[in-house]
Amino acid sequence: MRSISTRLAVWYALAATLTLACLFVVGYQLLQTYLIHGLDLLNSAEFEQIKAHMGDDYMTQSTRVIDERIRETTELSSVLFYIEIDSPQRGKVFSSHNLQGLAIPDIPGQHRYNTQVPRIGELRVAEFVLPFLDITIATPLSQVRKVMEGYVEVCAWLLAAMLGVSVLIGFGLSRLALRPMRLMREAANRIRSDNLSERIPVMQVNDEVSDLARLLNQMFDRLESAFNQVRNFTAEASHELKTPLSLVRLQAEKLLVGGNLSSANEESVQMQLEELARVNQIIDEMLFLSRAEAHAITLQCQPIDPERFLKSFALDARVLAEHGGHQFQVLHTGAGAVSFDEKRIRQVLLNLLANALAVSAPGGMVTMRSQLNANEWRVAVEDQGPGLPHHQHERIFDRFVRVNPRDKDGRGSGLGLAICRSIIILHRGQIVAANGSDGHGLSVAFTIPATQGTPPTDTAAARVS
Ligand SMILES: Nc1ncnc2c1ncn2[C@@H]1O[C@H](COP(=O)(O)OP(=O)(O)O)[C@@H](O)[C@H]1O
Ligand SMILES: [Mg+2]
Repeated sequence: MRSISTRLAVWYALAATLTLACLFVVGYQLLQTYLIHGLDLLNSAEFEQIKAHMGDDYMTQSTRVIDERIRETTELSSVLFYIEIDSPQRGKVFSSHNLQGLAIPDIPGQHRYNTQVPRIGELRVAEFVLPFLDITIATPLSQVRKVMEGYVEVCAWLLAAMLGVSVLIGFGLSRLALRPMRLMREAANRIRSDNLSERIPVMQVNDEVSDLARLLNQMFDRLESAFNQVRNFTAEASHELKTPLSLVRLQAEKLLVGGNLSSANEESVQMQLEELARVNQIIDEMLFLSRAEAHAITLQCQPIDPERFLKSFALDARVLAEHGGHQFQVLHTGAGAVSFDEKRIRQVLLNLLANALAVSAPGGMVTMRSQLNANEWRVAVEDQGPGLPHHQHERIFDRFVRVNPRDKDGRGSGLGLAICRSIIILHRGQIVAANGSDGHGLSVAFTIPATQGTPPTDTAAARVS
């Protein structure tokens, strides 16, 4: 049983049914005692009647007279009572007809007892003493037994009904009791790195569950502030670095423009400028990611025809590809418009293209396949390079992850695909890597919903891994 509510319901049902069963057992004993006590009272009443009919002179009367007197009163109630009268002096004085000559067994030392008589059945016996006479009166126990059997049957049905009803009640109660837990689970599920301000609702009571919710909320407070500190640090550090870097670049450019550098010095200043540009780019990328995490990126979405957009992109892409001795082709199917931020999607495509070109052999083909249907726009950039093992397909979207860095001098920051993913998520889309279609190379594809005319929320959070 996996769920607590099922367990609680079953425990509740078992406890309730067991309690009822105990009550029924006690009830059984009480009812039986009460009914047998009723039989004892009946026997006593019959004794009183016999005593009255025997008259005060019975001691002087013959056995026949006594027999007659008793028979007068007992024959009428012969269904109910079995009577036997013994006299220590005269032996058996009277035995009712319904005993059919049998004797009621005696249990020495007991005056009220149950006994079994062959052919007659179980009897409740009471012994009374008159001077010179021992009177034994018995009543059948069969009615009591029948009542008790009926009681057991009714109890069994009631227990079965109780089990069913208490399972239902148990389920209801446990769902009610666990409702705060469910709310906590749902809230905790919503809290992610991009949604750290959400909190678990706390009931206005001081029970264990609300204590737990408060504790979890305090933990989320601490997590949120730690996350914010890291984000702010990245944003601020990147920002602070930009100004001194610009100054250094300006100085370097001034040196170059001055023209009085030896060719060796000029080359070294050129190198400095290149490195500065690279550092600048990394800082820009880090700033972009931290702003995306802080929900500070605003998309400029508008409905655009992907075919027209890709045509214009292909012009630049072809130049880039040919510059490195590669080939580029773009294939598009489907007509219509998709709402997206042209500048950002262009940034994504350039990133994917740069990655594909970087791994392509001279003359290698990079193919961009675009498909637009009623639901989504899908673009895949595929190369004929070495590809990547399957376990790296997801990892390359992490920050600063570079598999087999291709430039030994360290070009490329490993942030490109992380940025691509954050932009695509801002468009409520997905981006994944897979093996190329003919088994060679890598295909990195994104899909964004083709919600024409309704741009995604501008401030949508980017969950950047
Ligand atoms: N088309 C591709 N084929 C093989 N590996 C790729 C491809 N695209 C990306 N990668 C791998 O993913 C890593 C991360 O890419 P990216 O985030 O763009 O960073 P960068 O390009 O700065 O290295 C790259 O270093 C590379 O190892
Ligand atoms: Mg890259």
